[in-house]
Amino acid sequence: MGEPMSASFDFKIDPFENFLHLFDEAKKQIPKDPNAMSLATVGQDGAPSVRIVLFKGLVRGGFSFYTNYESQKSKEMLLNNRVGLLFYWPAIDVQVRIQGITEKLKRAESEEYFQSRPRISQLGAWASAQSQTISGPEELQKKMTAMETKYLNQPVPCPPNWGGFHVLPVGIEFWFGREGRLHDRYVYERTDIQAPWTTRMKSP
Ligand SMILES: Cc1cc2nc3c(=O)[nH]c(=O)nc-3n(C[C@H](O)[C@H](O)[C@H](O)COP(=O)(O)O)c2cc1C
Repeated sequence: MGEPMSASFDFKIDPFENFLHLFDEAKKQIPKDPNAMSLATVGQDGAPSVRIVLFKGLVRGGFSFYTNYESQKSKEMLLNNRVGLLFYWPAIDVQVRIQGITEKLKRAESEEYFQSRPRISQLGAWASAQSQTISGPEELQKKMTAMETKYLNQPVPCPPNWGGFHVLPVGIEFWFGREGRLHDRYVYERTDIQAPWTTRMKSP
């Protein structure tokens, strides 16, 4: 093992820059889905719910991802915009924990991203009423076939109920694994999304 990743960590650098530096390293070391992040939302009944979504870049100061706006997660985020995100990159022994406020991306941003997706994913976005009950995989396949016919030889438009969110952070913690469980926890916090960052370390 070489130097731990924390050796190059610097509180003087903006947390987004620190994040992007570590993410670059994760992309080099992790062959599959280094951009996978857990997204925690809270339902109206106070129950938390967590699932993986794919990070698609920093958009206007927020961590972006795309989804169906009628899914469970979206319904929860539209009622309670406070969410948690978590990246874990075992190959570099780093965890990044984010708390923030989520907002829908602009329609033009979602449409632009949608057009960059593989055609099969575009059709899938129309075919899948995400989070709804289905009778089985045949039902989905039938809808997929119907969409293939509908959009034959045509570009697939972005469904109105599909698009992105970004998470504007109010807290970002960089966790670096160290020997003897004496891990490093570098924390950035701010009172709201406009406020300046304060920094501190936490005991592991
Ligand atoms: C590796 C991986 C990547 C995923 N990426 C996304 C994604 O970017 N957007 C999305 O809506 N669901 C994604 N999913 C599926 C979600 O985890 C989840 O099953 C789905 O969004 C429905 O969640 P909900 O019913 O809580 O809304 C992904 C799952 C995995 C395992």
